[in-house]
Amino acid sequence: ETIQEKDWKYKLLGAIWIGVSTFSFASGNSYSLKVSGNQELQELIKPQKVEFHSLNFNNTLHWQPGRAATGDIIYFVQYKVYGQSQWKNKEECWGIREVFCDLTHQTSEIREPYYGRVKSLSAGVHSDWNTSSRFTPWRETKIGPPSVNVTPGNKSIKLKLQAPNSPYARRRGSKIPMTNYYDLLYRVFLINNMLNEKTKILAYEGTDKVVKIEDLKPEVSYCVVVATYLPVLDRSSVYSSKKCTVPL
Ligand SMILES: *[C@@H]1O[C@H](CO)[C@@H](O)[C@H](O)[C@H]1NC(C)=O
Ligand SMILES: *[C@@H]1O[C@H](CO)[C@@H](O)[C@H](O)[C@H]1NC(C)=O
Ligand SMILES: *[C@@H]1O[C@H](CO)[C@@H](O)[C@H](O)[C@H]1NC(C)=O
Repeated sequence: ETIQEKDWKYKLLGAIWIGVSTFSFASGNSYSLKVSGNQELQELIKPQKVEFHSLNFNNTLHWQPGRAATGDIIYFVQYKVYGQSQWKNKEECWGIREVFCDLTHQTSEIREPYYGRVKSLSAGVHSDWNTSSRFTPWRETKIGPPSVNVTPGNKSIKLKLQAPNSPYARRRGSKIPMTNYYDLLYRVFLINNMLNEKTKILAYEGTDKVVKIEDLKPEVSYCVVVATYLPVLDRSSVYSSKKCTVPL
């Protein structure tokens, strides 16, 4: 071999080597770009803040759209009891546009811990699932205030209180009240309109459904608000709407 021939051979081998490595580099690169582009979109449309909202055992899963969620996004919801391996589809929330899903009837064993999860589909791309934290209805539901009816009495006012209902029905169809699930107390607060509106005086605390508040001034307007209190969880409801009347 002449020196020239040798030189040419090395040049050729070098060119082939560069060619092969360029090809593999380029194809590897475009492959990873495609995957990471998809992964990024999957992450950007992933539902956020997946959490249960629960009032009187009405248990609804809520979430927020991912940052890049567009108009044509739809959601899929599953749920399971803690400890089970199998997720179940919530048929009514399979391919929905709403950002909430009523799981009341799927979470009715109120002392069991549940999970819910959501994924989205947008422009042909599925996000990963995002899962709520563990949710135990009995421990976490917010209780509502009672419904309140006031009538005037002789220097007194009479209240009729009714506990909020759960969503669960008896066989005959009537709703089971929350008193079925908790020992709850009513807290009746008196607002004397003569005083500062903000002054609430605890006038009664107990389990009675009919409460009489006596020793009031006649022909003065009195208002009451009532809250439900759960001693076992040390948790109070919001106040009922204000009800007013004038003792005789
Ligand atoms: C959902 O996913 C994101 C990350 O993609 C995370 O920041 C968030 O905390 C997750 N969990 C819930 C319950 O939304
Ligand atoms: C109202 O109560 C007073 C005693 O506090 C009593 O003397 C009076 O008869 C009562 N009036 C009515 C209408 O019940
Ligand atoms: C739960 O509450 C929502 C909103 O108030 C209501 O539309 C829905 O019917 C309730 N679910 C049940 C099972 O009662």
